[in-house]
Amino acid sequence: MKKKKIAIVATGGTIAGSGAAGKTTNYEAGTISVDEVLASIPDIRDRVEIVLDNLFSVDSNEIDDQRWLILTEHINKLADQQDIDGIVVTHGTDTMEETSYFLNLTVNTLKPVVLTGAMRPATATSADGPFNLFQAIMLASHSEAWGRGVMCLFSSTIFSGRDIQKISNYKIDAFDQRAFANLGYMKDDEVYFSSQPLKRHTTYSVFSRKPINDLAHVAIADYYVGASPDILDFLAQNNEGIVIVGTGSGNYSKEWRQRIEELSDQGIIFVRASRVTNSIIFQDDYFDPKHVCLGANNLSPYKARILLMLSLTITKDKKVINDYFLNY
Ligand code: SIN
Repeated sequence: MKKKKIAIVATGGTIAGSGAAGKTTNYEAGTISVDEVLASIPDIRDRVEIVLDNLFSVDSNEIDDQRWLILTEHINKLADQQDIDGIVVTHGTDTMEETSYFLNLTVNTLKPVVLTGAMRPATATSADGPFNLFQAIMLASHSEAWGRGVMCLFSSTIFSGRDIQKISNYKIDAFDQRAFANLGYMKDDEVYFSSQPLKRHTTYSVFSRKPINDLAHVAIADYYVGASPDILDFLAQNNEGIVIVGTGSGNYSKEWRQRIEELSDQGIIFVRASRVTNSIIFQDDYFDPKHVCLGANNLSPYKARILLMLSLTITKDKKVINDYFLNY
């Protein structure tokens, strides 16, 4: 049988990190080639044909809007090649949950796109990168992986790029998802899917169908006990949208409500999210009877920001953007 052809797009991160032999801390991310990580996976080139693209070599805290747009374009070009069966993106874990949601909304293919990384640098004892990369490649080459949106593979768990969230900065089982089920599991090279994403993604996403040159500027404002609303005025100077990280169900003080209403009248688009990991927030007749704010649904503030950045490239109509928050 013909071997599947998998493209690996390397962007950096701990999976390509190196430091003192054996140690898991005090290393530099994105310093070695993913080729070296591949070399430690037995038989991988017998199982699949691999093309390796070293796109960036950065710590994922250096990923920005422009790198996101370059990455989307790069993945789309690879996916357009008929002989490529799937794409793996190696990425730092710190911002993987943001990049995976951005790609989930913007890449225009049903071919499997899988992000993976590592918590331990390549030079650590029991580095987790090679096994994560092995499983990500096996997932990307699996026929059932088509059409499931951008996925992340970490510690034998298959996550939706929409829902994944980093929950540990010291364990190798470092990810989870908000309240809803993950997509499945892997045992070595075997793939077990248990659910299908229902939110719109990739080819079904309106954001994958139009060329995007620049993203809208959107900031995040944290509400906490005694927080001054002056931060909102400051952020409104350079942003078209602001995501509020409220308490509980996306709540904040009367003073914040008033300032948000004033800034909304001046054209700033607000989304209410929550500091609570498992929260669902819709437009709310009780807390916000004038529907000044949109609700983040069950997205984290960081993911809500991405959806608003993309939405504002299409429209400022709150009804349309609200529809995006319900469906993406
Ligand atoms: C990074 O996000 O690039 C550094 C941390 C990691 O990959 O675990």
